[in-house]
Amino acid sequence: MGSRLRRWLFDPVRTLQGADIRPGKTVLEVGCGTGFFTVPAAHLIGDHGCLIAMDALADYLEQVSAKVRDAGLTNVRVLKRDALETGLDSASIDTVLLFGVVPFPSLPLNRLLPEMHRVLKPDGNLAVWQFPVSGWVPKSIDRSGLFTYISKRNGVYNYKRC
Ligand SMILES: C[S@@+](CC[C@H](N)C(=O)[O-])C[C@H]1O[C@@H](n2cnc3c(N)ncnc32)[C@H](O)[C@@H]1O
Repeated sequence: MGSRLRRWLFDPVRTLQGADIRPGKTVLEVGCGTGFFTVPAAHLIGDHGCLIAMDALADYLEQVSAKVRDAGLTNVRVLKRDALETGLDSASIDTVLLFGVVPFPSLPLNRLLPEMHRVLKPDGNLAVWQFPVSGWVPKSIDRSGLFTYISKRNGVYNYKRC
């Protein structure tokens, strides 16, 4: 998940710059895995923002916690949760990152999108990065009626919450 080849092929900083994650924002990273995007995302958000790195697997989260600790970051909350029922407050998140997690059998869009819509602030953003790209995913997000497509930057599809 975090190999040098992957880093070379998909520079995580450049990819993250395609999403709307600015200093001071509260960002939810769904399915952070072993943290390929976590530390660079936390740096982009800065000390006044908060990154919630969420995954269902404890082993992955231990690796993420170690990376966060080693990087000396204090703006990351590592959470073991099912992204289909996050338990987060409604309208509490500025940007949701779905990076490398859709399509995934345990993250069906018909359940994931309503939960992401619930936790996002009214003017919140959804950012989706896929590898490999499955054309039906962006179309399904657009057709859900929950999000409106706004742009594609650095391979990242960006949507506004409707
Ligand atoms: C293909 S990995 C991608 C990891 C990371 N985003 C990356 O790009 O390296 C998908 C991740 O989603 C997590 N995941 C799958 N279903 C989930 C769910 N329902 N709730 C939270 N995390 C989930 C898996 O445990 C796994 O870490």
